[in-house]
Amino acid sequence: MYGLVNRAIQQMVCTQHGEDVWQRVKDRAELKDLDFFLTYQAYTDDVGHRLVAAATVELGLSADQIMQAFGEYWITYTALEGYEQLLESTGETLPDLLDQLDNLDARAAVAFPELQPPFFRCEHRADRSITLEYRSKRKGLAPMVTVLFHGLGQPFHTPLTVDQIASRERGDARELLHVCLSPPADVSAAHPDSRDARE
Ligand code: HEM
Repeated sequence: MYGLVNRAIQQMVCTQHGEDVWQRVKDRAELKDLDFFLTYQAYTDDVGHRLVAAATVELGLSADQIMQAFGEYWITYTALEGYEQLLESTGETLPDLLDQLDNLDARAAVAFPELQPPFFRCEHRADRSITLEYRSKRKGLAPMVTVLFHGLGQPFHTPLTVDQIASRERGDARELLHVCLSPPADVSAAHPDSRDARE
């Protein structure tokens, strides 16, 4: 994964747990000699895996808990790094944004040409809930994606619930999430003011 992701892990650990904890995570991940991650350099996924594994030991959390914390942090972090516009231009309403999600990382590939983006496909149901398919060549990221959706609801003032209804980890063929927007999408999520409020 690109250095942007590893830097985000570093930033999250430093901000939430302190610089000394980060040094211990980095040492445990056998990255002692590495001074910093370059945002636009593609690192092997193994580097990210080692960081997460080391963080589980140093922070006493499970890998899923760390991925959830990371999902929460990612939206803030990408905004700090100047990618807020990319997210904002992806959809005028929350259902729009979810529909366009598959384009988001593909558009980020302009800056990150070797990016291996996730695949998202939305199916809108009659009760206004959404079934969302997430596919990736990587494993173990579903807990992060679930939390990411909560972060996407915040700027639209639309709380949402996300339930994982199928999971590769549990032996299903793919990851399926059931997303319910609350209150109803046509009241809060489509209101133009809700967009203004985030700017
Ligand atoms: C707006 C700013 C964003 C930027 C700049 C961005 C960029 C990136 C980058 C550089 C990677 C690493 C992939 C690689 O190196 O191959 C990545 C991975 C990923 N991104 Fe984004 N992203 C953004 C927002 C989002 C959002 C809002 C979501 C989902 C709700 C998302 C879902 C993911 C997932 C799931 C991965 C892991 C890749 C995989 O599943 O295989 N991203 N992104």
